[in-house]
Order: sequence, then C-alpha cells, then structure tokens
Amino acid sequence: MIQRQKGCNDIYGRDAKVWKYVDQVIDALMEKYNYNYIRTPIFEATELFHRGVGETTDIVTKESYDFVDKGGRNITLRPEGTAGVVRSYIENKMYGDPNQPVKVYYNGTMYRYERPQSGRDRELTQFGMEILGSDDPLSDAEIISAAVNLYKMLGLKEIKVNINSLGDNDSRAKYRDALVEYFKPHIKDFCEDCQERLNKNPLRILDCKVDKDNEYLKKAPKTLDYLNDESRDRFEKVQEFLDIMQIEYVIDPNIVRGLDYYNHTVFEIEAKVEGFGSNNVLGGGGRYNGLVNQLDGPDTPCVGFASGIGRLVKALELEKVNLPIVEDIDLFLMYVNDDEKKYAAYLSQELRLAGFIVDTEYTGRGLKGQFKQADRLNAKFTCVLNSEDLNNNEVKIKNNHTKEEEIISLDVLIYYLDEKINAGMSDEYEEGECQCHHDHESVECCHHGHSGCCHSHDE
Ligand code: HAM
Repeated sequence: MIQRQKGCNDIYGRDAKVWKYVDQVIDALMEKYNYNYIRTPIFEATELFHRGVGETTDIVTKESYDFVDKGGRNITLRPEGTAGVVRSYIENKMYGDPNQPVKVYYNGTMYRYERPQSGRDRELTQFGMEILGSDDPLSDAEIISAAVNLYKMLGLKEIKVNINSLGDNDSRAKYRDALVEYFKPHIKDFCEDCQERLNKNPLRILDCKVDKDNEYLKKAPKTLDYLNDESRDRFEKVQEFLDIMQIEYVIDPNIVRGLDYYNHTVFEIEAKVEGFGSNNVLGGGGRYNGLVNQLDGPDTPCVGFASGIGRLVKALELEKVNLPIVEDIDLFLMYVNDDEKKYAAYLSQELRLAGFIVDTEYTGRGLKGQFKQADRLNAKFTCVLNSEDLNNNEVKIKNNHTKEEEIISLDVLIYYLDEKINAGMSDEYEEGECQCHHDHESVECCHHGHSGCCHSHDE
C-alpha cells in the first residue's frame, strides 16, 4: 500500500467541512477589511527565497524543498507566502496602481522539510494577508486586529497576542551588535546552530528551540532597550491604535520571528487552550519595509501576517467551538423499481436546482437499507417514490424527526419543502435571536446569511 508522505495530511469527512468553513470565514473577513484575493505559484525560483526570506533562516537553509526542473532551473516549493506576493507585486508593477496601499490575502499550501510532529507539518496550509505600500502604524494595527477578529469570528476565546518591535535598521543594527557582544563569551554553551547564528543572525539565537531554557538566553539584552526615538514613537502609535480598536495584547520582548525580513512591529498570536502542546503559535507576522527593495522593487513599506490553518482547526477542536457545519441533508429520495428510479433522477435534479440538499440511492439497496442510509445521512425528510402516487401527481413525504407523513402534490413540493426546511429553521429561534455561536459583544459577525443571524439585529 502506498502511504502518504511524512508530515502531510489527508483532510476529509467532518474535518474537511471545518476547513471549508474556516475558508469561508476568511473570505468574509477579508471582504470586510477590503483585501483582494491573490493566488501566486506554489513553486518559485530558489533565489527568491534565499534573497527574500533570508540565507540564515531555518526554512531556507534546512527546510526547503528544492529541485532542478527538466529545463535545469533551480526551483523551490514555497515555504511561506510573503516572498511570492512581493515578487508578484514587483513583477506586475502593482506599486504603479493609483489605488494604494495594495491589500491582498492568500490561502494555500506551503512546504517546509521539518521534523514532523503535532502542529508541525511538511505540507502546511497558510492564510496570509499583506499590506504593501503603507508605513502608517494604523496598518500594523489593522493587520493585528484582522488576525484577532478572524480567531474571534470563528469562536476562539483562549488566545494571546504578543507584540514587540525590532525598530528600524539603525536600532536593529545596534541591538544586533549588543547581542553579539553579550553572547560571545557564552556561545560555547549554546547549540551548534546558535554558534553559527552568532555572527550571521544573532537575533535568531533568541528563539532557538534547543537553547530555550539556557540562563544566558533569558538574561539577553531586549530589543526595546535599543529602539531609537523614532522607532519607539512608532511602536507607541501602533499600541495606541490597538487600544482604540480594543485589541488586547502583551508586549513580549522575546518575539523576534524566524524570518529575516522583519523590522519595527513583530507579533505572534498564541493558542492558550489546554492540550495544545508546544507548537501553539496560531499565526505571526510583522513589518518588512526592506523586502520589496531587496528584491529589486522600489522602496515600499509593508506589513503582513500568516496563520496556519491546521493549528487553527486544532484550536477550534480543543476549545470545542460549536461551528455551524452542515451535517445533515434536506431530503433522501428512495425508490424500488426502474421507473421510480428515473423519477428520483428527475426530482433530485429539480430539487437541487431549487436549492435543497438532496441525495438518493446508488448502490442497489432494498428499501430497508435505504431507510438506514437516510438515517446515516441525517436526512430531515425522506420520500419513498411510489409509482401509484406518482401517477396521481403526488409523493409521500416523511419528516424524519417527528416521523409524521404527508401526501403532497408534486406541483407544490418545492413550496412545501421550502416552508418546512427554511422557514422551519427560524421557528426554532426567538425572532431576532442570533443563530450563530459568536460572541457579539467583542466582534460583529455576519457571514452566515441565516435568517435571524447577526445582521438582522439591526434590520
Ligand atoms: P511563520 O511564522 O513562518 O510566518 O508562519 C506563520 C504560521 O504558519 C505559524 O504561526 C504557524 O501557524 C504556521 N506554520 C508555520 N510552519 C508550520 C508547520 N511546519 N506546520 C504547521 N503550521 C506551520 C510566515 O510564514 C510569514 N510569511 C508571515 C508573514 C506574512 N509575515 C509578514 N507577512
């Protein structure tokens, strides 16, 4: 038997429904924030990631999926989405669009040759958003607020937002020198990777997974002490906007992020729910003002964020969030003979086009087996198509919950089902009561389009 590759996942059944739901909420959220969807290739020139993400980062030096294609080109499967978006921004001259800044989002697979473990996959799916062409601290706060609102709209409560600032190039360079000086006498006590990092990128020592308990690491100089006035002022403005938006956060000077392109604001959002394990960062991001220029584009200030969908789905499960996932069908059509089967084919087509979720029998089961199948599918209604009824232009419909049966004229079947299923749904709720599970005090949600949901409060 051929098995799936290590660190890759098959997502199917209920999990696949949860993933699709998360995708829908992302699309709805991004519409509200006015971001446009962007789809860039899964593979790019290797050079893009070396120059973009950084020669000293783990995802480029150790974890990249590189290959030479049949034309002799050096290709890499993207380990993250930002570099591809920036390449596309430059190549398509989006900086020339009068509509600035450019606000885009993506949602797709990334590839990192990691040691697979819970929350750490080789094929991972990331939702990401980027603002290209704004240096305003409001855009940093907007990105953080959008990330937080995504988690809240989905129903997560136990999250923590950690923010920090690496400052501008000047502050960052001073901080870098301070770190080299601090770590140099103790570097022998650190892992081999950190010994290499000392001169190449000492900031990365701070988020080393191997040395995380090293005492010297805990007492290392903090970025915030090396910010120049301009950088400190900028960071304060970001906090001011977050306060205005009522986004709760904690300043954590240890957040430095694993990728080389960041300056000024950096942040990570953690899942605090019990049982998550060590890979509990749901998403992270920050400002990368130098990247467009570094990849041969014009000087363009940018900020962005990405969230792993796999970790997000795990957080939803661990927090036992009740998601509005459709796990039933409206009608199961049953039949015995060939004429009835043909009618089932006709009627299922009609009813599906009218908007109902309809299924029927495809495996030759007898009626008893078909009833069992209807139960397995959680059918709200069942209908045994019977030649005699059909000749009378009628069908017998059974409500699978109340077990009540009614004979309905085929001419009014659609209206009957519409009333029972769609209008019936809102009967279960007080008028104006929201049918979704969200915490409306903190976030307004409204992507479901159910009658009675969120929006209708104001209607
Ligand atoms: P990152 O921190 O490398 O940032 O990844 C963002 C998120 O992707 C992580 O917080 C995590 O949820 C998920 N993730 C990363 N690696 C794995 C993995 N091996 N398995 C499962 N999930 C994973 C970036 O990728 C930046 N491009 C974010 C960004 C956008 N910065 C600015 N704009």
